[in-house]
Amino acid sequence: MPIRSFEDFREAVFAYRLPRIILTALDLDLFTVVGSRSWTIAELSKEVDASPRGIDILCRNLAAAGLLRKRNGVYRNSRLAADALNANSPHYRGAYLQLLREQWNDWSQLTACVKRGKPVARQDPDDPAYRRRFTWAMHHRSTAIAPKVAAQVNLRDARTLLDLGGGPGTYALAFLARNPRLHATVCDRAPALGVARKIAASHRAGDRLSYLPLDFMREPVPGRYDVIWYSNVLHIYSPEENQALFRRLLPALAPGGRLLVQDAFLLDREGIYPVEASLFAVTMLLFTERGNTYSIAETSRWLREAGYVRVRRVRMKKGAEDWEGGLLEASRPAARRKTSAAPGNQEEIQPAG
Ligand SMILES: C[S@@+](CC[C@H](N)C(=O)[O-])C[C@H]1O[C@@H](n2cnc3c(N)ncnc32)[C@H](O)[C@@H]1O
Repeated sequence: MPIRSFEDFREAVFAYRLPRIILTALDLDLFTVVGSRSWTIAELSKEVDASPRGIDILCRNLAAAGLLRKRNGVYRNSRLAADALNANSPHYRGAYLQLLREQWNDWSQLTACVKRGKPVARQDPDDPAYRRRFTWAMHHRSTAIAPKVAAQVNLRDARTLLDLGGGPGTYALAFLARNPRLHATVCDRAPALGVARKIAASHRAGDRLSYLPLDFMREPVPGRYDVIWYSNVLHIYSPEENQALFRRLLPALAPGGRLLVQDAFLLDREGIYPVEASLFAVTMLLFTERGNTYSIAETSRWLREAGYVRVRRVRMKKGAEDWEGGLLEASRPAARRKTSAAPGNQEEIQPAG
C-alpha cells in the first residue's frame, strides 16, 4: 500500500497466500502437534495424517514467515507459535484463532455482500452458544493489549466504572488490576457475562467486578458511574444508534464523569486512514446490519451534540494501543454551584447541562 505499479498490484492481490497457509496450519492444528519438540517432515506428516509433499511445502513457508524454525532439516515451533497457537499452552488463543478460521469463508462472500449492503450469513447476536464462543474469542483477542491500554488511562479519581458491551470483561479486569480502589460493572448479554464470570473467578481483581445483563440499545442503562468504557462497540451500530446511545448515557455518568470510546477511528480528513480502520469496516459490512467505522471528527461531533464537554483524543503509545489513535474521551458537564436566594445563602449543587 499504496498500489502504484502493476507489480505492487500483483503483490497486494497475492497477499492472500500467507494467510491461507497459516489457516491451513491451524486447520491441521500443526502448532499443537509440533508442541515443544523437533520434527522431521516424515514424522510430522505421519502425525497429522497429511502427505509428506504437502507438509514439506507448508512447513517451509511457515518457517519463512517466522512461525516455525528450521535447523538441520528439522522443524520446531517459534516462541509465538509454541505460546499462542499451541492448544497445550496456558496462553493459547484458540477461540480467536477459530474466529479467524471461520472468517475466511465469510470473506469469500464479499462480492454478494457489497451488492446487497447487508451481511450474507448473519449470526443471531442473542444465540447463547454463538455469544459464548464470540466472547471467548474477544478475550483471546485482547488479553495482552488490555493491560497496556489500562496502564495509559488515568482512573486515579474514579471509584466506579461501567464496561458497556464489555463482553469477557477483559478491559474491566485490566482497569481493576491497576486501580485498587476501583469497582467495575460489566454490562452485556447474559451468555457473555457467563464467560466474564469464569474469567474473573481466577483473576486477582475479579471480586471487584459486578455483572449487568442488559440489551443497552433497547433498555435504559441503570446506575451512575464515574467512567463509562465503551470499547469496540461503536462500530457495530449506525451513526443514529450511537448518537441516541450517547444521549441516553449522560444520566448514567456522575457530573464530571467521563465516557471513554475506544474504536478503529478514521483519523484523516477524507476518512480513509489508517488502512486497518477502513479494512475493519469491511468486517462490519460482512457481519452487521448497520455497522461501520467512523472518523474521530464525526464521533466527537456526536458527543458534543449529545451534551458532552471536553471531548478530546487520548494520545496512546505506539504499539501499546488496541487501534492506532483509537481512544476518545468526553465528559459530562461538572456540577455547577448555584447560589440560592433562600435565607442562609445555602448552596445547591446541580449538574449542568
Ligand atoms: C466486539 S465485542 C467488544 C468486547 C469488549 N468491549 C472489548 O473491547 O474487547 C462487542 C460486545 O458488545 C456487546 N453488545 C453489543 N451490543 C449490545 C447490546 N445492545 N446490549 C448488550 N451488549 C451488547 C456484544 O455482546 C459484545 O460482547
